[in-house]
Amino acid sequence: MSKILVTGGAGFIGSNFVRLLLERTTHAVVNFDALTYAGNLENLAGLEKEPRYTFVRGDIRDAAAVRAVFETHAPDVVAHFAAESHVDRSVLDATAFVATNVVGTQVLLDASRAAGVKRFLHVSTDEVYGSLGATGRFREDSPLQPNSPYSASKTGSDLLVRAAFHTHGFAAIVTRCSNNYGPYQFPEKLIPLMIANALEGKPLPVYGDGKNVRDWIHVRDHCEALLRVIEKGRPGEVYNIGGDSERENLHVVRQILALAGRGEELIRYVTDRPGHDRRYAIDSGKMRAELGWTPSVRFEDGLAQTFRWYVDNRTWWERVRSGAYREYYERWYGQRR
Ligand code: NAD
Ligand code: DAU
Repeated sequence: MSKILVTGGAGFIGSNFVRLLLERTTHAVVNFDALTYAGNLENLAGLEKEPRYTFVRGDIRDAAAVRAVFETHAPDVVAHFAAESHVDRSVLDATAFVATNVVGTQVLLDASRAAGVKRFLHVSTDEVYGSLGATGRFREDSPLQPNSPYSASKTGSDLLVRAAFHTHGFAAIVTRCSNNYGPYQFPEKLIPLMIANALEGKPLPVYGDGKNVRDWIHVRDHCEALLRVIEKGRPGEVYNIGGDSERENLHVVRQILALAGRGEELIRYVTDRPGHDRRYAIDSGKMRAELGWTPSVRFEDGLAQTFRWYVDNRTWWERVRSGAYREYYERWYGQRR
C-alpha cells in the first residue's frame, strides 16, 4: 500500500480520482486543496470518516504549507491535479493561472523531490498542443503551441516537470488528456452548463458558429488511465489520453436538448471566445500500446448517464450555482473559508 498525495482533489477530476483510489485500491489518500471557487468538498461527501482518507486545506503556492504536508503525511506518490482550469477565466485575468499552474507546480516539485517522493504524476491537457485543422491528431511529439493563457500556463508547468526529470532525475510523468465530462463537473464548463440551463429552461450560450470540435472522454476513463500511469508509466515520459469521441459543440448541445426534452429555441449564438481553438483530437496509441489502456465509455452512453446524474443530483449543482456549497467546509472542518 502507498500513500498518495492528491492535489486539487476537491475539484472535478481530482474528486473522481480520490473516489476511484478508495474504491479500487488499498492506497491511503491525502487530499491537499486550497478550495478555490472550483474546490467543493461536497464532491467528496460521504468520505469524511473514511480512515484511508485525509483532507488538508492548503495552497500549492505556499511553500511552507506544502513542506508541512510532506512532513506530516510522508506520501510516496504525488498526483498533481490542482490548477486554475477554465479557459474563459484565463482570458479575463491570467494572474492566478501563472501563480498556481506555473509557480505552484514548481513549489510542489521542489517539495516532492526534497521529501523523496518516488513518483510524481502531472495531470496536464491536450490544449498545450494548440489547435488542429480538419484532419490529424495530437501525438506526444506534436509541437507545443498553446493559444490561451490557461494552456500557456499548463505548458509552462509541463516543461518544469520535464526539467525536474532531466536535471534531477526526479521520477515525474506527464499526462495530457482531452475534454472530460461526468459527475461533479463545475457548471461553468460546456456540458454541465448546458445540462443545468436546459433543465431550468434557460438559454444555452453557444460560442461562434458552434462548429468547434472537442474529443470527449468520460472522467472515469481518464481516472482509470491515470491509475495505470501511476502503476506502470515510465518516468520522464508523456502520455496522451483521449476518448476517441470527436463531436462538434452544436451536436453536443443538441443532444443535451433532446435528453432534456427541450427545443432548439433555447440555443443562443453568442460572441466567440477570443483565440478559440477550433479542434482537438488525441492519438492515445502510446497508452494503448505501452499500458494496455483504452477508453470504455461510448460518448452517447456517457452523456446520457451524466445527464441523469445532474437530474438526480440537482441539489449539488443548485448549491454550486447559489454559492451555498461554500458552507460545507465550515460544517465539517469547523473553520470559515
Ligand atoms: P477544477 O477546476 O474542477 O478543480 C481544480 C481544483 O484545484 C479545485 O479543487 C481547486 O480548489 C484546486 N486548486 C486550485 N488552485 C489551487 C492551489 N493554488 N492550491 C491548491 N489547490 C488548488 O479542475 P479539473 O477540471 O478537475 O482539472 C483538474 C486538472 O486536470 C487540471 O490540472 C486541469 O488542467 C487538468 N485537465 C482538465 C481537463 C478537463 O476537461 N476538465 C482535461 C485535461 C486536463
Ligand atoms: O481539452 C482539455 C481542456 O478542456 C481542459 O484542459 C480544460 O481545463 C477544460 O476546461 C476544457 O477546456 P475547453 O475550453 O475545451 O472546455 P469548455 O467546457 O470551456 O468549452 C468546450 C467547448 O465549448 C469550447 O469549444 C467552448 C465551447 N463553449 C463553452 C462554454 C462554457 C460554448 O460554446 N459555450 C459555453 O458557454
